[in-house]
Amino acid sequence: MKFEQYADFAGRQWRLAMSESEHFSLEKCSADEKTAVWDKMAATYDISMGADTRRIEAAIVRLEKLGAFSPDAVALDIGSGTGAYSLALAGKCRAVYALDSSRGMQETMMEKAEKLGVKNLIPVCADWKSVSLEALPCRFDIVLSSLNTGINDTESLLKMNRASKGFCCYATACGTALSSSRGDFQKIVFGRELKAAGGNDIIHPFNIIYGLGYRPELTYAPCEWAKEEKPEEAFEAVCRDFGRYGPLSEEVKSRLREYISSRLNERGMFSHWQKSVMGIMIWDTRDFG
Ligand SMILES: C[S@@+](CC[C@H](N)C(=O)[O-])C[C@H]1O[C@@H](n2cnc3c(N)ncnc32)[C@H](O)[C@@H]1O
Repeated sequence: MKFEQYADFAGRQWRLAMSESEHFSLEKCSADEKTAVWDKMAATYDISMGADTRRIEAAIVRLEKLGAFSPDAVALDIGSGTGAYSLALAGKCRAVYALDSSRGMQETMMEKAEKLGVKNLIPVCADWKSVSLEALPCRFDIVLSSLNTGINDTESLLKMNRASKGFCCYATACGTALSSSRGDFQKIVFGRELKAAGGNDIIHPFNIIYGLGYRPELTYAPCEWAKEEKPEEAFEAVCRDFGRYGPLSEEVKSRLREYISSRLNERGMFSHWQKSVMGIMIWDTRDFG
């Protein structure tokens, strides 16, 4: 295969991995329904995926070393969620535009910004797939996206390049995540564990960006969380999560309830955890070929 064909090949591999990753391909909800799930998750995001800040520090350290920050730098954080990266970038840049399709996530982020006295964070409620780059105020010095399921194909990835006049940073899963209960929940809902084909693995966007002639660097950071929830809260959260695959029958709901109540700790709480590694890829859009 000629090198010029490689990005296209990698894009096809990414599409295939997405379609074979049942975690994504079995979803039955519309984009608006997915956004509603994010809205509801906003309140608890910071005690799960938002809890481990090592992945944020790793990206900031690398961007700093590469000279991405300056007093005039303006950044765009796509799929900013509760502000994990936006708030950190705000301390290093003149302004940060935090784009997310979920109003719930943006409200939580802005409450945190107010408490921290952060004044240079600008929320933009929009879908990355459909937003026109002309509607954004400029081309940005840094364009970042972390765990944003809205950037899951070549087109939405390369839109990051078009929005940037400096660096891009894309962070996502790296390898398989270990979880105390996800597999058991899947067995209850689907009768088996879902096939995970790495649809959201960093290897796919890395290969595309590399195949286009950029020289992306890759950093790894652990991302772990452990949380305790009241049984009713845990039940509601798991129903919301698996509701993306279609309505849950009363029988499935009662088995989920049973599973949760059979695993309460000495404080009467359902505790669970996840361990994963994040791949953080950074490339300079001016450094080509
Ligand atoms: C897992 S959270 C990641 C939040 C944050 N970037 C982090 O690393 O903790 C994914 C976020 O992406 C947002 N999102 C998903 N698809 C999107 C899209 N097409 N456009 C904009 N935001 C999107 C969700 O609303 C959610 O807030």
